[in-house]
Amino acid sequence: MENPILTVQDLTVQIKNQQDITILNNINFDLQKGETLCIVGESGCGKSFTALSIMGLLPKKAKAYGKIMFKGKNLLQLSNEELRDIRGKEISMVFQDPLTSLNPLFSIYEQLSEIFIAHGFKNKKELKTRCLKILEDVKIPDPKTKLFSYPHELSGGQRQRILIGMAVALEPDIIIADEPTTALDVTIQYEILSLFNRLKRKKGLSALYITHDLSVVSEVGDRVIIMYAGTILEQGPKESILNNPYHPYTKGLLNSIPSLEKRGSYLTPIPGFVPSAENRPKGCPFHPRCLKKQAICTKKVPDKTFVSDNHFVYCHLVK
Ligand SMILES: Nc1ncnc2c1ncn2[C@@H]1O[C@H](COP(=O)(O)OP(=O)(O)O)[C@@H](O)[C@H]1O
Ligand code: SF4
Ligand SMILES: [Mg+2]
Repeated sequence: MENPILTVQDLTVQIKNQQDITILNNINFDLQKGETLCIVGESGCGKSFTALSIMGLLPKKAKAYGKIMFKGKNLLQLSNEELRDIRGKEISMVFQDPLTSLNPLFSIYEQLSEIFIAHGFKNKKELKTRCLKILEDVKIPDPKTKLFSYPHELSGGQRQRILIGMAVALEPDIIIADEPTTALDVTIQYEILSLFNRLKRKKGLSALYITHDLSVVSEVGDRVIIMYAGTILEQGPKESILNNPYHPYTKGLLNSIPSLEKRGSYLTPIPGFVPSAENRPKGCPFHPRCLKKQAICTKKVPDKTFVSDNHFVYCHLVK
């Protein structure tokens, strides 16, 4: 497993206020060619900041340290122009909310053709053929009519399909999907997941799939990163994380999934809340919510412990 397309090394992101706030603290991972890596954690854990760091889209007040290596370049050191060239063409992103990601004032055709125009395509007939092909690829019914409709005339699921189609249109190397199904009905979620998988496979992309919902991982992931309070707590292959989790936080996330077998049974949410970035606890970041907490947990950050070749965890209980 040594063919990374993207390597994130010691990524730390701070917001510059009167006092600097650390949003991401020393994040390390790589994305292998062709794989889907899931980043999972509750809201506020730093998943979106991780994605935005890669895309060069962090808010102005944020400063990123470390390295994000892609094709021999550190993305954190590129100019805005260089990043603009990479976005869409080499690394593209799908956001959570399909309505705000599309401009309500422009037709689907205008918005789809813009990505091709921005990357040098001019011929009107070719533009139309390419845009139509996107709608066909993502299985929008009656594509010839829908091409000239406006975002509000489509359903949420159709809009998200189109955004995924747009994201893969220029055949990038990497697609980053940040909670692409969270705003949608459960019944539509699985259609979107299978569309994502199909296009990813067909175009041979590597993917970073971000979700707060660990149950989604069994549908899309190859490997999983469990993130909490701006750090990684556990990482491993999907099967290993789902069937043999070590970190109490990962176990908590698994226990709060309404699975088919457990349907109707009592779900156990993790007590307490994700701490805000300003108020992260000392020692193990999860300790205020952990039922297994010991004296050392409030004082010392746990070391990285490998439980198998490619599965590791940060918890004082795991030795
Ligand atoms: N301007 C800001 N000032 C302070 N904290 C911020 C600011 N912007 C974001 N954060 C904090 O950064 C953390 C990570 O946010 P985010 O990456 O959006 O999390 P996720 O995508 O996992 O829900 C959150 O705790 C959020 O409150
Ligand atoms: S290090 Fe301690 S507080 Fe943290 S998860 Fe492990 S047992 Fe719980
Ligand atoms: Mg987010």
